[in-house]
Amino acid sequence: MAQRIAVIPGDGIGPEVVEATRTALDAVADVHGLDLAYDDFDWSCRRYVEQGAMMPEDGLDILREYDAILLGAVGWPGVPDHVSLWGLLIPIRRTFRQYVNLRPVAVLEGVQSPLRDARPGDVDLVVVRENVEGEYSEIGGRMNRGFPDEMAVQESVFTRAGVTRVVDFAFDLARTRGGYLTSATKSNGIVHTLPFWDEVVAERAAEFPDVRWDAEHIDALAAKLVLEPGRFDVIVGSNLFGDILSDLAAAVAGSIGVAPSANLDPTRTFPSMFEPVHGSAPDIAGQGTADPVGTLWSASMMLDHLGHQEAGADLLAAVRATIRSPATRTRDLGGTAGTREVVEAVAARIRA
Ligand code: NAD
Ligand code: IPM
Ligand code: MN
Repeated sequence: MAQRIAVIPGDGIGPEVVEATRTALDAVADVHGLDLAYDDFDWSCRRYVEQGAMMPEDGLDILREYDAILLGAVGWPGVPDHVSLWGLLIPIRRTFRQYVNLRPVAVLEGVQSPLRDARPGDVDLVVVRENVEGEYSEIGGRMNRGFPDEMAVQESVFTRAGVTRVVDFAFDLARTRGGYLTSATKSNGIVHTLPFWDEVVAERAAEFPDVRWDAEHIDALAAKLVLEPGRFDVIVGSNLFGDILSDLAAAVAGSIGVAPSANLDPTRTFPSMFEPVHGSAPDIAGQGTADPVGTLWSASMMLDHLGHQEAGADLLAAVRATIRSPATRTRDLGGTAGTREVVEAVAARIRA
């Protein structure tokens, strides 16, 4: 029976990189004999403008029946970001308990890191971002708009169960990689939630004696990611810290356009969602120049998750080989190709 994938291209460059990725996925499916069936959903800011909602009321019930979700990006000028994000992206992550957001970062061959000394292979790390609680809470709001006593309040929520499960995932992952974990924190006690995070990390560390670990303050960690990115293996952080670190690390690796992400429900009760780290990039939308690599890499993670490790590895290998040449990589990577040219080259390589 076919595995069913819900596709949400979204806004801006979202549809461009998703359509490109479908071309590559079709090639992989043919070569590896995979039976993948796709349904497209036009849930987006355009839908919001036309119909008053990013997705239908039963949108989450519809998605629940799928084996995985492939998303481009949502957000478009004119629709406030909090509307587009709380109307689609965040409910998917939270309702489907996608509590791990896995964001690998590597300097790929053919990609120039802005850091003088970072060569391909030097940087190879994974950000494990807590994805359903922390700073992204629904508790709070804006009050007294327009008055002198106007204010905005938002409570962070850190639960023992929530921190434990993501930290355990990160320790487990470190075990299969370099055996080294860094916890992103701010333990000075100014912020009350993070000393609690630290306690849980230290407790869980005792269960993983084979993993070396340390904790770094988020500010110092940001600096170290620039000064010595090669030092890191797995970095675990709260929702907001993980968000910031993953863009920073992606930039260190050469472009946010190549960064992938997997929003995972490791219990497999609900569908997981695969999407590039970047957004809808209104500044380059419609030009056919968006880098499809972040979405292609995310699709490779989706194939892994669906049990097709060989196919996933094949897709990623084809992407890596393709972008070695400037003629088949996009402008953000110093190349000359458009989105379609990159993906045609990837597909041809897979079929070769
Ligand atoms: P962005 O990631 O869309 O763009 C940041 C910069 O990176 C831009 O200059 C853009 O041109 C460039 N860029 C991004 N992806 C690229 C690619 N594939 N190839 C080449 N260049 C690329 O971030 P932003 O400008 O902060 O946000 C724009 C909109 O996207 C906002 O509405 C935001 O809320 C939304 N957003 C959505 C998601 C998501 O759906 N997961 C993620 C981030 C931002
Ligand atoms: C990401 C994005 C989202 C986040 C935004 C668009 C809500 O930046 O996926 O990294 O902060 O999670
Ligand atoms: Mn982000």
